[in-house]
Amino acid sequence: METKMTKPLRGAVIGYGFISGNGHIPAYLKRALEKGDVEIVAVADTCESRRQLVSDALPEARVYTDYEILLEQESENLDFIDISTPPVYHAEIALAGFKHGLHVLCEKPLTVSLEEAQVLLKAAEDSKRVLFPCHNYKHAPVVKAIRAVIESGQIGKVRSVTLNTFRNTHAKGATEWRTHWRREKRFSGGGIAMDHGSHTFYLTFDWMNSYPTSVTAKMSILEPERYDTEDNFSAVLTFPTGLAHVHLSWTAGVRKVIYTIQGDKGAITVDDDEMQIATQYKTEGPDVAQGAVTWQVEKRNISSGWMDASHVSWFNSLFDDFKTAIQKGVFVGKEAREAYLCVQLIQTAYQSAAQGSRELPLTPDVLI
Ligand SMILES: NC(=O)c1ccc[n+]([C@@H]2O[C@H](COP(=O)([O-])OP(=O)(O)OC[C@H]3O[C@@H](n4cnc5c(N)ncnc54)[C@H](O)[C@@H]3O)[C@@H](O)[C@H]2O)c1
Repeated sequence: METKMTKPLRGAVIGYGFISGNGHIPAYLKRALEKGDVEIVAVADTCESRRQLVSDALPEARVYTDYEILLEQESENLDFIDISTPPVYHAEIALAGFKHGLHVLCEKPLTVSLEEAQVLLKAAEDSKRVLFPCHNYKHAPVVKAIRAVIESGQIGKVRSVTLNTFRNTHAKGATEWRTHWRREKRFSGGGIAMDHGSHTFYLTFDWMNSYPTSVTAKMSILEPERYDTEDNFSAVLTFPTGLAHVHLSWTAGVRKVIYTIQGDKGAITVDDDEMQIATQYKTEGPDVAQGAVTWQVEKRNISSGWMDASHVSWFNSLFDDFKTAIQKGVFVGKEAREAYLCVQLIQTAYQSAAQGSRELPLTPDVLI
């Protein structure tokens, strides 16, 4: 089913905090000016001081204390909602959006439990409305460059990947509400794996060109008397095509991503904006260790804005995909199914860590 769109998509943002205030809304405003295909007409936030800030960015928008009231009053004139609240609220708000006949763009993690994710995917199919997660790391310029190199065949078949995300602190929410909600499980559903795991996991699916069959994980909390969510997390994911090693830290000495992608003909190494592509070529020599293979190394610098946690510059490309899904009637597409798999991975990794890092199977039922 194709939805014709001559008018701009009209949206409402639920949760006017850091990511919507610094990322989504500035990107919508820029897009509205440049393409005129989106308009944010309403915002809901439970926090009075956050609501007071809305008119600075969106003077025309109607502001609500509660998403349910917003949906009652606005849904007839809306196409979509953008959910930018802490994770524990994602499922109930998305469900309410579907009940009101709206498409749903939802921040990661899609939900904090697999049961909620299952309900959401079904609700999207049943209501014939798009469920689309904000998997924005795919839209980082350097990550797009990785995809292009893999697709070109330059490094051959990918056999293993490592993804390290280093942060010197947990990510913070807007100061007007609960800045440290990521360290409170009742709002976040978990620590760094819940907060950042989705980004890491959907990149592994893409690079390994398959879905994992099992996971083993370990995690720790540096100050358990203060926080109830993990700040360090490591996992190994087994894929039909090889292994992925994942390490996430909120207690690192530097803010940085370091990714490596190992193929059978070469490798890609990414350190924030720096990318190295090493490709093998054969030279004379008795064997590999004695010089029969050498590497040609190409270095690129791909400015990707890693230090800006709002990732505002990646949002437009993500919104293009959301819009295409609406136009083509792809209610539960690859992105939504991968969001489900990310939730499954996070939940199973937590179980593995709780059982002394026991390797636990993953069943990608939703993808079959
Ligand atoms: N994709 C990314 O790169 C990225 C980056 C940062 C945050 N996020 C995600 O965005 C979401 C919000 O994170 P943030 O950093 O903006 O947090 P934040 O604390 O800055 O903002 C959350 C806002 O939601 C409001 N809120 C809380 N409960 C609500 C409810 N029930 N209804 C309506 N409003 C409510 C709060 O008042 C606050 O203004 C999280 O899911 C987070 O994981 C994604």
